Amino acid sequence: MALLMRLCQRSYSTKLKDHQAALMARSLPKRQALPGVNNIIVIASGKGGVGKSTVAANFACSLAKLGARVGLLDGDIFGPTIPLMMNLHSEPRVNDKNQIIPPQNYNVKCLSMGMLTPPDGAIIWRGPLVMSAIQRLLKGADWSPLDVLVIDTPPGTGDVHLSLTQHTPITGVLLVSTPHKAAIDVTIRGAEMYHKLKVPILGLVENMRYSICDNCNHHIEFFKPVTGSSHPKLPEMLISLPLDSHIADCGESGTPVVIKHPDSEHAKLFNKLALQIWSTLQEKQETNETAKDTNKC
Ligand SMILES: Nc1ncnc2c1ncn2[C@@H]1O[C@H](COP(=O)(O)OP(=O)(O)OP(=O)(O)O)[C@@H](O)[C@H]1O
Ligand SMILES: [Mg+2]
Repeated sequence: MALLMRLCQRSYSTKLKDHQAALMARSLPKRQALPGVNNIIVIASGKGGVGKSTVAANFACSLAKLGARVGLLDGDIFGPTIPLMMNLHSEPRVNDKNQIIPPQNYNVKCLSMGMLTPPDGAIIWRGPLVMSAIQRLLKGADWSPLDVLVIDTPPGTGDVHLSLTQHTPITGVLLVSTPHKAAIDVTIRGAEMYHKLKVPILGLVENMRYSICDNCNHHIEFFKPVTGSSHPKLPEMLISLPLDSHIADCGESGTPVVIKHPDSEHAKLFNKLALQIWSTLQEKQETNETAKDTNKC
């Protein structure tokens, strides 16, 4: 009897989940592609301060070094850091179509609310304003042509994430997390949200689990490695970045570590990540083109 009740409960909760997912999908507005932008990659995490912006800036620069045409949109309306990390502080100009022209550094076109508001001015906006600001930065800017637009997001799964996923076809999400349980748990919850909204997860960047001794290269582990068996719902880990003062200094000084120390181990890790994602995107494009040619025949 107890077994029967449990089976009934389980099938009811499965049906309820499917029903909720169907409702969410039905209420979504139609996603519109950004003209001239081939791929959009969102950098996200449930937790704050885990390294999203650091990963976004270095990943964008590494992609650009591979020859990709890259943009970097700072989706953090309340705490923009991309102008600091990419050393871009002037106000963007507007073209004759009234589109914002994203300023460029390190071969990456960048746009951030921090370029449009005074540095000491508080932004007191609620959901709809935040959503329309994101849409303006996304759709009211002269991004084209781009192979990849990288979007740095604020912590959590709030208005910015919903606005992005509802209105724009996202190629994939790169999750960033430190390895402590509180961060991993919200990262998994964030992954579930993207999963429900049918946005692919490209993988996980683990940050600050260990550091490397400058003298003997010994790895000093702060946390145990996060494994798929202990967290089965955690996406595949693509790279694990050490806690390192060069990464922090480069972020503060406006020259990402992949630019300032291109031969460092940290730069190699970011380059590995960029190469892996770039290869996946190119394969996808080739498959799409082949499918188009086959349909023509
Ligand atoms: N691997 C690392 N080693 C050393 N410092 C790091 C590393 N990753 C990030 N940092 C530093 O940690 C701080 C927070 O990083 P960052 O701003 O990228 O996090 P975030 O997740 O974007 O934060 P927020 O949630 O506030 O947007 C920054 O000062 C950054 O330089
Ligand atoms: Mg950030």
